[in-house]
Amino acid sequence: MDHRGFTSFLLIFTCVSAQYVPPYTEDCRTGMYPPSGPTFKGAVPWYTVDLGLPPSKRWTGVITDKKNELAAMIKAIKDLADAFVPSGKLLDLVDKDLPLMVDTLPYPFNEEIKGVATASGVPLGEVVLFNIFYEVFTVCTSLVAEDPAGNLIHARNLDFGLFMGWDLKNRSWVITETLKPLVVNVDFRRNNRTVFKSTNFAGYVGMLTGIRPQTFTLTMNERFSLEGGYIGILEWILGKRDGVWMSFLTRSVLENATSYEEAKKQLSDMKLLAPAYFILGGNQSGEGCIITRSRIHNINPLELSKQQGRWYVLETNYDHWKAPLFLDDRRTPAMKCMNQTTQSNISIKTIYDVLSTKPVLNKLTTYTTLMEVANGKLESFIRDCPNPCMPW
Ligand SMILES: *[C@@H]1O[C@H](CO)[C@@H](O)[C@H](O)[C@H]1NC(C)=O
Ligand SMILES: *[C@@H]1O[C@H](CO)[C@@H](O)[C@H](O)[C@H]1NC(C)=O
Ligand SMILES: *[C@@H]1O[C@H](CO)[C@@H](O)[C@H](O)[C@H]1NC(C)=O
Ligand SMILES: *[C@@H]1O[C@H](CO)[C@@H](O)[C@H](O)[C@H]1NC(C)=O
Ligand SMILES: *[C@@H]1O[C@H](CO)[C@@H](O)[C@H](O)[C@H]1NC(C)=O
Repeated sequence: MDHRGFTSFLLIFTCVSAQYVPPYTEDCRTGMYPPSGPTFKGAVPWYTVDLGLPPSKRWTGVITDKKNELAAMIKAIKDLADAFVPSGKLLDLVDKDLPLMVDTLPYPFNEEIKGVATASGVPLGEVVLFNIFYEVFTVCTSLVAEDPAGNLIHARNLDFGLFMGWDLKNRSWVITETLKPLVVNVDFRRNNRTVFKSTNFAGYVGMLTGIRPQTFTLTMNERFSLEGGYIGILEWILGKRDGVWMSFLTRSVLENATSYEEAKKQLSDMKLLAPAYFILGGNQSGEGCIITRSRIHNINPLELSKQQGRWYVLETNYDHWKAPLFLDDRRTPAMKCMNQTTQSNISIKTIYDVLSTKPVLNKLTTYTTLMEVANGKLESFIRDCPNPCMPW
C-alpha cells in the first residue's frame, strides 16, 4: 500500500481539533439503576455466535439483523473522509488497498471479516477499515472493584468517536451516534456451551469488553503514547508483522485463557502493534489489575491490595502514576464517586451510578457494561448524555 497516502489518512483522522468546552462536572449520581430516563437510550440485544462454525459463517445471524445499521455507520465514516479529502482519493485507497490487507490478518479474524462483508454487502475494504481503525479512537473508563464479601465487579463505559465529526446542530458526535444501533451482546458458544460473552459492535470481530464466566473479566482502553503510537500499525501495512493487534489479543485471551493468571501473562507479555491498557478481574478476592502496555512491556502494574486499602482499580486513558490531561479528567470524578460510595456499599447499582456521573458519562459514551464474574452475568445499556454535557 502507498504509505504516504496511509499516513495522511491517519493524520486527517487524528489532527482535527474539536472546539474547546469547559469541563462540566456534576455531583455523584445516585439511584440511577435500574436504568431509565434521559441517560438510558435502550437495552442491548443478545446474539449467539457458534465457535464451532467455520469463521466465515459465524457472524451471519448478527449481520443479517444489523446490515442496514452497519452500512449507515460506514457511510457516515465515508462522508467524513470525503469532507476532508474531497477528491475521493482516500476512499479509493480504502476500496483498492484495504481488501488486500485482509489476508495479512491472522486466522480466524481474516475469515470472519470476509464473512461480515459477504453477509452485509458492505465492500470488504470498508469492513477492514472498521476493524483496524476502530481501536485507535476509543477513550473509556474501566474499573474492577471488590465488595466486602470478596465478589468482584468489573464495569466500563465505552466512549468512542472522538474527533469523528462534531454535529453542531445536535451537539453530538456523528460516528458515536451511528455506532449506538450497532451495539450487541454476544454469547460465544462451543458445543452449545458458553465460552465467553462480550459487548461488541456488529461487524467488529475483535473484543473490547468481555467475561469468561467464573474465570475472569477483561476490558481494553486506548493508551495514547508518543513513542510507539501508530508505528506498529504502519509497520504491519509495510510488511513487518511481528506484533499482535490489540483487540485480537483480547479476543484470543477470552477464547483461550483458562485462568486469571494465564490471561494476565498473555496480556502482559505479547508484543503489540500499539500501546494499550488492559483491565483484568479474576474470580477470587484480590484478583484485579491494570496492565499498562507499551508495545513490548507491562509497565508499572497496579493490583488490588488489601494491605494498601486498594479495593478498586480504575483506568481512563492516562497512566495511573501520572496526572490526566486537565481537559480530559474523568479519573478524578470517577474516583471521587467510588470513594464516596465506599467499599461497604459497592454493587452493580452503585457502580452504574458512578458511570452515570458527568463527565465520566459524556457525549462519546456509547454503552455501559456491568459484569459479575462469579455468576457469569454481563449486562449492558446504550447511553445518552443530555446537555449540558462534556463532548468527551
Ligand atoms: C441531527 O439532527 C438532524 C436534524 O436536525 C436529524 O435529522 C439527525 O437525525 C440528527 N442526528 C442524530 C445523530 O441525532
Ligand atoms: C443449546 O442450549 C440451549 C440452552 O442453553 C437449549 O435451549 C438449546 O436447545 C440447545 N441447542 C442445541 C442445538 O442443543
Ligand atoms: C480516593 O481514595 C484513594 C484511597 O484512599 C485516594 O488515594 C485518592 O486520592 C482518592 N481520590 C479522590 C478523587 O478522592
Ligand atoms: C448505601 O446505599 C444505600 C442504598 O443504596 C443508602 O441508603 C445508604 O445511605 C448508603 N450508605 C452509604 C454509607 O453511602
Ligand atoms: C468463582 O467464584 C465463586 C464465588 O466465590 C465460586 O462459588 C466459584 O466456585 C468460583 N469459580 C471458580 C471456577 O473458581
